[in-house]
Amino acid sequence: MSLVLGIDLGGSAIKAGAVDVDAGEVVGELQSVPTPPGATLEATRAALTTLVARFPQCRGTVGLAFPSVVKRGITYTAANVDRGWIGADAAALLTAAAGRPGVVVNDADAAGLAEMRVGAGRGERGLVMMLTFGTGIGSALFVDGRLWPNTELGHLEVGGREAEHQASARVRTVENLDWPQWCARVNRVLERYHALLWPDLFIVGGGVSERWEEYAGLLKSPARIVPARLRQTAGVVGAALYAAESGER
Ligand code: BGC
Repeated sequence: MSLVLGIDLGGSAIKAGAVDVDAGEVVGELQSVPTPPGATLEATRAALTTLVARFPQCRGTVGLAFPSVVKRGITYTAANVDRGWIGADAAALLTAAAGRPGVVVNDADAAGLAEMRVGAGRGERGLVMMLTFGTGIGSALFVDGRLWPNTELGHLEVGGREAEHQASARVRTVENLDWPQWCARVNRVLERYHALLWPDLFIVGGGVSERWEEYAGLLKSPARIVPARLRQTAGVVGAALYAAESGER
């Protein structure tokens, strides 16, 4: 069994887990530390070092799921993290923090990779759109199982405002929306995504997917809508799968 360390940087916590990449599952407990305020580069680097040290059983390349457009290890956007990440070499920072090779992938893309491999998207063909509802809205598109990375559809304007500014899980909490109110907003976003891209399947992920039963019946689209299966481990598993596929083991 090959154990690879996957790390997922979210709005409130940085989670890490040892992932059996052949089975696509976390082995043992997830570990987490609070996300430093604003997730500045230096504070994040220190937090990553702390987390990596807790997983001596993991070998090889470390994977980090990060809420930004990521190309060849460089982070290009910073919607919900410190602006210092724009243009930063995040892979080099992770490598320095971990003391071994590190690779970085967009957080929604990581969650989508995990769902497609071992979760709700397994065996699905056609166009699958994974959406993560958290601090923002993350998107990951798969065409016949193959990822089209960095789609950033949470920033698409729907009714004059960015989708994630009206329908993320954070907005639900901050504006104290009940399920019908929040789902009405999500439905407008899904309607727009469907009108433009015609997905066959939406996978709804992020922390809010853990409460799926409370609102599932309120979501509507001509496409099928299913909850993510990996729930809080999707980013960690996806980051490890990405590391296993792109780096040394
Ligand atoms: C970011 C994306 C990220 C999403 C979910 C958005 O604000 O731009 O890169 O995937 O939030 O964290």
